[in-house]
Amino acid sequence: MPDFLEIASLSRDDLRRILATAHTLKSARGSLPRGAPDPSPALDGHMAALLFEKPSTRTRLSFDIGVRQLGGQSVVLSSQDLHLGQGGETIGDTAAVLSRYVDLIMIRTFAGDTLHEMARHASVPVINGLSNESHPCQIMADIMTFEERAGTIEGKQIAWLGSGNNVCCTMMEAAAVFGFAMAISGPDHALPSRERLLGARAAGAEIRVMSDAREAVREADLIVTDVWQSMHETEMANLEDLFLPYQVNDDLMSAAPNSALFMHCLPAHRGMEVTSTVLDGPHSVVLDEAENRLHVQKAIMLWCLGRLD
Ligand code: CP
Ligand code: NVA
Repeated sequence: MPDFLEIASLSRDDLRRILATAHTLKSARGSLPRGAPDPSPALDGHMAALLFEKPSTRTRLSFDIGVRQLGGQSVVLSSQDLHLGQGGETIGDTAAVLSRYVDLIMIRTFAGDTLHEMARHASVPVINGLSNESHPCQIMADIMTFEERAGTIEGKQIAWLGSGNNVCCTMMEAAAVFGFAMAISGPDHALPSRERLLGARAAGAEIRVMSDAREAVREADLIVTDVWQSMHETEMANLEDLFLPYQVNDDLMSAAPNSALFMHCLPAHRGMEVTSTVLDGPHSVVLDEAENRLHVQKAIMLWCLGRLD
C-alpha cells in the first residue's frame, strides 16, 4: 500500500485525484455537524495511529476528526508515550508492531530519516504529518484552498517570503508537479538549500530567488509566509533584524496585485512574519487553509488505503 511521504515522490495524477476527492468530500458534508460521520464513511472499522514528536493543533485535530468522519477510530500518541527510537527499541520495531494494531500511521517527526525508516518497516501506509524537511499535507491543503478561490494553480505565480523552510521546500516540490512559478525572498542564511533549489528546478519548477521582497510579490497570485524559526531550529537572537525586511504587512501587500491571496500554514507570530492587518485582512484565506487540512487529509488517507473512487 502506498505511503504519503513527499510531494516529489508522488505522481501528478495521484495528487490530482486526491485533490478532486478532497473537494468532493468537502461538499458532500454540506452542513453536517462536525462530529457526524460522512454520508459514505469509507474507513468504517479502520484504526489509525497518529504519532507526534512535536506539538500540533491543526494536524492533530484534522487527522483525528477526519478519521472519525470517515467512520474509523484513531489513537493519538506523543513521543513521550512511546519507545520511539528510545530505550533500545528501534523505529523499525515500533513500525512493525504498530502495523499489527492499526491500518494506517501518520507521524510528525523531527528527522526525515525517522519518517522514512517508519515507512520502510511498516506494512501499513505511513503519512508525513511534517518533518524538519517537509510538510506535504499542508501544501496539498494550500493548493486546494488556492484552487477553490482562484481556479487552477497551473501557470500561477507564488511569492514566498521569509524563511525557506520545510513548508517552502515542499511548495517548491509542488511547483514542479503542478506547474506554478515561485519567487522566494528572504535573508541569505534562511534561503532553501542549494540542493533543494537545484532538485526542484531539475524536476521542472520555475523558481526565482529575489533579494527585493516588493519585487517578489509584484505579479503574485498568492503570497505565503511561515514562522521565521521552525520547531526544530535553534533560537536566534537577532531574528527581527534579519527577517523584518520580508515581513508580510500592508506596505508589502500594496506592491502586489489587488487580487493576490495570502496564506500562512499557522501557527503565526503576529507582528513578526505577518501583521494582524494582513492575517485578518481581506486577502487572507488562512482559516480556509486550516479547514482544508481536514478534507485533503481524508482524501490522502483514502488514497493510501486504496479507497479513492
Ligand atoms: N500547520 C500545521 O501543521 O499546524 P500544526 O502545527 O498546528 O499542526
Ligand atoms: N515551519 C513550521 C511549520 C509548522 C506547522 C515548523 O516546522 O515549525
